[in-house]
Amino acid sequence: RIERIGREPDFSRYMDLKEGWLDRRIFSDAEIYEEELYRIFARSWLFVAHESQLPKAGDFLTTHMGEDAVIVARQPDGSIRVFLNSCPHRGNKVCFADAGNTRRFVCNYHGWAFDTGGELKGMHEEYCYDENDIDRKKNGLKQVARVASYKGLVFATFAEDGPSLDAWLGDFRWYLDMLLDNEEGGTELIGGCIKSVMNANWKFGVENFIGDAYHAGWTHDSGCRSMNNGEPFPPIDMENSYHASVNGHGWEFGTEGVGDLFLLGRPKVLEYYEKIRPKMAQRLGEMRSKIFGSVASASIFPNVSFLPGISTFRQWQPKGPMEFELKTWVIVNKAMPDDIKDEITKGVMQTFGPGGTFEMDDGENWSNCTTVNRGVVTRHERLHYRCGISRQIEHDTLPGIVYRGQYNDANQRGFYQRWLDMMEADKLDAMPERPEPRLSGVGETRNLPGLFAL
Ligand code: FES
Ligand code: FE
Repeated sequence: RIERIGREPDFSRYMDLKEGWLDRRIFSDAEIYEEELYRIFARSWLFVAHESQLPKAGDFLTTHMGEDAVIVARQPDGSIRVFLNSCPHRGNKVCFADAGNTRRFVCNYHGWAFDTGGELKGMHEEYCYDENDIDRKKNGLKQVARVASYKGLVFATFAEDGPSLDAWLGDFRWYLDMLLDNEEGGTELIGGCIKSVMNANWKFGVENFIGDAYHAGWTHDSGCRSMNNGEPFPPIDMENSYHASVNGHGWEFGTEGVGDLFLLGRPKVLEYYEKIRPKMAQRLGEMRSKIFGSVASASIFPNVSFLPGISTFRQWQPKGPMEFELKTWVIVNKAMPDDIKDEITKGVMQTFGPGGTFEMDDGENWSNCTTVNRGVVTRHERLHYRCGISRQIEHDTLPGIVYRGQYNDANQRGFYQRWLDMMEADKLDAMPERPEPRLSGVGETRNLPGLFAL
């Protein structure tokens, strides 16, 4: 088991979500960060790849699960394996490439060679090992305990037991299907990955995308105007917009009217979505076909975010309490014609690449929030997360913990509740599902097809 011994978990002193406040130390304290690596990143289902990145046997990519370097590789039988990118001999990395296709991962240091399943296949000057020195079967690259996919997204977890990916995502799949399954053929990531490093705590990125529409019209006002013919960010319809949270994942959205702001001056893309909208309504129902067109953003606990419509898909990789590496991709429907995919890519680069108008605005805020919160007096002050705290509703159709009004801190509170549950739980199986699964009203979200263990 991966755990630190001898520490009493008492993280509830860092927040009171019923009252709506957080302690600033969770954004910079080195010990809390170290506990996050053990309790959250070594136990969560973490996004590691999109299936489209590994179409053929031997295709691989390298990434991180928390701060652990891993290789994700497509096997000859079509399954996907994830294993540590660290040689069992002295620990060196066995693969320095971001992605590629190979038959062997060969360590730079002493030439041990592993196949694409992570098994040890040979060593440099093998005769130096006597018969009893080494059992090859026991000296492969350490396999990550479980790997599973949901509609193209591949997740892995170091936790041998605990919830399945299906249970981990829970009813959030009802929302995720708007991104992953709005058109026949599903999605793909195109054009590679852009990486950038920010001096900010990883949670600020996640919480910004999980439900912070509130900042958009202010932080991004000038950016919006420059890209949308001088038009400001539109007022939010607080009656017909929502925050929805399931197990710490969250999606904020409107349900009425299809905004064109989310495509930011890309009329060809808007036209395309309008064209497929009737079919989308057949696939997903009328309501989800409208939600998909609204100003919306979402995060999957713990560290993936995306903007439906604008099509940026991103992961906040922790690199210390006050640094993350942001990896961003462009996600599109496979069935889209190439010119629409190109148009979407240009839109993402203009807005949310490292040189994108909005990313630059956001990055500065997150970085300042992190560094200023670290002051020895400042860190003991509380942060306010109470917006919309009395607007929770029961909705006939929308699954999850639902709050009315898109200007709200509800999804952020849901995210930090999950953070707290995981930081304090000895066993993941004992963690509460939030909300408790409902037995009726959201029947269509149960037993969704498309999930398979690899
Ligand atoms: Fe990899 Fe020695 S560290 S072969
Ligand atoms: Fe922003």
